[in-house]
Amino acid sequence: MKVKDFVSIADLKREEAVEIFTEAEDIKKKLKKGKKVSILEGKTLVMIFDKPSLRTRVTFEVGMFQLGGIALDLDPSAIQLGVRETVYDAAMNFSRWVNGIMIRTFSHDTVRDIACHCTVPVINGLTDLLHPCQIMADIFTIMEKFSISVSNPDFKGLKISYIGDGNNVANSLINAAGLLGFDLSIGSPEGYTCNKAVLENALECSGKSGAKIELFTDPAAAIKNADVVYTDVWASMGKEDEREKRIKVFSPYRVNKELLSKAKKTAYFMHCLPAHRGEEVTDEVIDSEHSIVFDQAENRLHVQKGILSLLLRNK
Ligand code: CP
Ligand code: NVA
Repeated sequence: MKVKDFVSIADLKREEAVEIFTEAEDIKKKLKKGKKVSILEGKTLVMIFDKPSLRTRVTFEVGMFQLGGIALDLDPSAIQLGVRETVYDAAMNFSRWVNGIMIRTFSHDTVRDIACHCTVPVINGLTDLLHPCQIMADIFTIMEKFSISVSNPDFKGLKISYIGDGNNVANSLINAAGLLGFDLSIGSPEGYTCNKAVLENALECSGKSGAKIELFTDPAAAIKNADVVYTDVWASMGKEDEREKRIKVFSPYRVNKELLSKAKKTAYFMHCLPAHRGEEVTDEVIDSEHSIVFDQAENRLHVQKGILSLLLRNK
């Protein structure tokens, strides 16, 4: 991989995304066969979580352990990044001690800033703008379900519909569509659509990749004929105070049996989790045979190990 950091899927070339998927598949196969993969023996990853996390925290820590290294989960209130000292000074310290940094925080610019200052790789574990590790794992899951080759992926004809808030998950999905060339239709209420700059960039890339990216306000129009239906919480971390208002605005976007029936009969249902059952998705959908949410969660482990292996092994 040429890139030093993993901050956005839009920073990757198609070959680099393919490299991540191929490495992840190889590492996953070896783990399933009980083979030891010690690519990162003696390496250390620092993890900074300014927002809560279950999946990202556990999968990065377990992933580093399985690759022979260790992960340090720093308490943000103890290090007070940007308060006790500048982000630049902290980043310069990390660069002297560890082999990589994984950060989940609010501002996307903070992650870009740290990546710019640090000499070691920086991995985006979610910002207000993007959630790239999640979407790489999700695309890997889709490739498994549709038997799409990881070394030469062809997404032609595959349609993903994202229903709900135009948030970090939706934005990274748009980046992935632009890069890899699947069709993406997004159904969001007016005023809650995805990031304009992310969309414009993806539309520009779609000329090369062949992606068709469409925005709708009508969820039924967005979901029509979808192979994959994806949703996420209506109020992301940091927006909890808007929850009551959002529940009213978003209720027509709830993925229930009736809405899902407008997708293909064989459609898969995806959610990055945590889910607010009864809000953006009903139990009858998330617990149905359509749902692959725990496959997605499992693949966070394998795909992030692919990213860690490619970024950290020579650092
Ligand atoms: N999907 C995801 O990133 O989960 P966590 O917030 O629990 O890490
Ligand atoms: N959009 C959600 C994703 C959680 C993994 C959030 O930012 O809270």
